[in-house]
Amino acid sequence: MSGQIDMRVVNLRKSFGRRSVLSGLTLGFPKGKITVVLGSSGCGKSVMLKHLVGLLRPDRGEVWFGSTRVDTLPERELGIVRRQIGFLFQQSALFDSLTVRENIAFPLREHGMTEQRLIDDKVERVLGLVGLTETAEQMPSELSGGQRKRIALARAVVLEPRVVLYDEPTTGLDPIRAEVINELILKFSDTLGITSIVVTHDLVSAFRIADHMVLLNDGKVLIEGTPADLRDSKIPYAMQFLKGEISPEELARIRSSGDHGSIGTT
Ligand SMILES: Nc1ncnc2c1ncn2[C@@H]1O[C@H](COP(=O)(O)OP(=O)(O)O)[C@@H](O)[C@H]1O
Ligand SMILES: [Mg+2]
Repeated sequence: MSGQIDMRVVNLRKSFGRRSVLSGLTLGFPKGKITVVLGSSGCGKSVMLKHLVGLLRPDRGEVWFGSTRVDTLPERELGIVRRQIGFLFQQSALFDSLTVRENIAFPLREHGMTEQRLIDDKVERVLGLVGLTETAEQMPSELSGGQRKRIALARAVVLEPRVVLYDEPTTGLDPIRAEVINELILKFSDTLGITSIVVTHDLVSAFRIADHMVLLNDGKVLIEGTPADLRDSKIPYAMQFLKGEISPEELARIRSSGDHGSIGTT
């Protein structure tokens, strides 16, 4: 894709014990665009995101945020990068003992903002963006799952980050709630000019929002291109993934016996 690249990973390798998860991952995230990274469960999507913010360090390879190399940055300097990257974690956990307002204010305080009026203004703004202004004084336990996800989204963008990482933002939501989240990701991208990186296995959501698409397999990039590039791909794994089909090898493994433990759907 043409245009400026905001973040990139180069030949990223990561193993846990003997299990190789990323095995030479190279890909770029275009500035101001929505990149959707697809791949089956357990293929390393969350592991990749954690490398982008220095929560994990690669065994080999490089992570770049603009012209800053992230993977070799000392822990004390990672704050500068993290300040500019919003992260919606897969479990989007809110702090149960804090109100919605204090949950959203948390990253602001953590990054040294103390002026109450400024904090209130920023909280109001992002609550408005996700359409939940009226919930400011409520506790997370009083909200529905879809609302909690929207509050977590508001918290992820409150520092006005340059890049937002979304880990499975629609997983576990019904189609209508999922569509609300899709719309919010599109809105943040448009109105805030954010570079968005969305990892998911939700194909409906992926094709709704993606400018740029990546399919991972075996710890590497199998396809990187436009949504049409993926949709029209004749690569067998890509066709299987899009159709939600089990591979013949996997099917054979499932059918052969019950004592294998992993069937590749961790
Ligand atoms: N901190 C860790 N220690 C050991 N294994 C891990 C760790 N994080 C992830 N893994 C393993 O790496 C693989 C990829 O995980 P993950 O990136 O979470 O997959 P997904 O694509 O579903 O997000 C899984 O097999 C997982 O068990
Ligand atoms: Mg994951």
